[in-house]
Amino acid sequence: MEVLIRANAEAGCILGAKIIARVVREKPNAVLGLATGRTPERLYQELIRLHRDEGLDFSRVTSFNLDEYVGLSGEHDQSYRYFMRETLFRHININQARTHVPDGTAADLHAECRAYEEKILAAGGIDLQLLGLGRNGHIGFNEPTGSLRSRTWVKILSEQTLRDNSAVFGSFDQMPRHALSMGIGTILDTRRCLLLAFGPPKARAVEQMIEGPLSAMCPASALQLHPRATVIVDEASAAGLHYTDHYRWIDSHKLDWQKYD
Ligand code: GLP
Repeated sequence: MEVLIRANAEAGCILGAKIIARVVREKPNAVLGLATGRTPERLYQELIRLHRDEGLDFSRVTSFNLDEYVGLSGEHDQSYRYFMRETLFRHININQARTHVPDGTAADLHAECRAYEEKILAAGGIDLQLLGLGRNGHIGFNEPTGSLRSRTWVKILSEQTLRDNSAVFGSFDQMPRHALSMGIGTILDTRRCLLLAFGPPKARAVEQMIEGPLSAMCPASALQLHPRATVIVDEASAAGLHYTDHYRWIDSHKLDWQKYD
């Protein structure tokens, strides 16, 4: 795992956007896996700026989002489809027909999950998957103790996740209890993963993900098996790590072609 420690979330998001922009410049028809949540918002703002000011072209990009709440249509202001449209898609020149978010209102949710996996395959697989990190170590909506080989499926949200997300959602009681989410197996099949985690509430999950044992107790630790996973943290979320000197050493001894900034 490549661990990049930056001073704060702002610097981490700018770096993350730079990494994604490089992928899109090198492969204009790249397939991006996207994430929701508070963490990537600043990164998306930076992608919008790069599009506006530097002509970053998304016209041939395809995207697949990680997850969606069951029962919420794309018009619901708490749905992830709505979030993506308002936070990123309508500000860049991506073809909305090539943006994919699981349909949480599908009559047959299992068929929707299978079809989502097939669409990813038909698009040639995901070149880069952006990820946030749940306070309990979840990625997508893959909660602790779930299978580390799972595919896109209906996931039951843990009580902790409901509590964490209800701050944004407005109410604990109105939050959906289920979501469709890419599985850990789906995420591990992507060519590259880029996970962002900032702030003190993520410190424990960051430590378990990077230095803890590979365990379904921390689903994000499955990234230890990924051939190309990059994790961007800030000083606060890195506070629980034991090998920060090592990560900084590696970061400062990169060959020119391995450097980001
Ligand atoms: C949510 C999402 C995840 C996200 C995580 C962290 O439940 N399903 O994809 O990464 O929780 O959210 P935040 O970035 O708001 O802390």
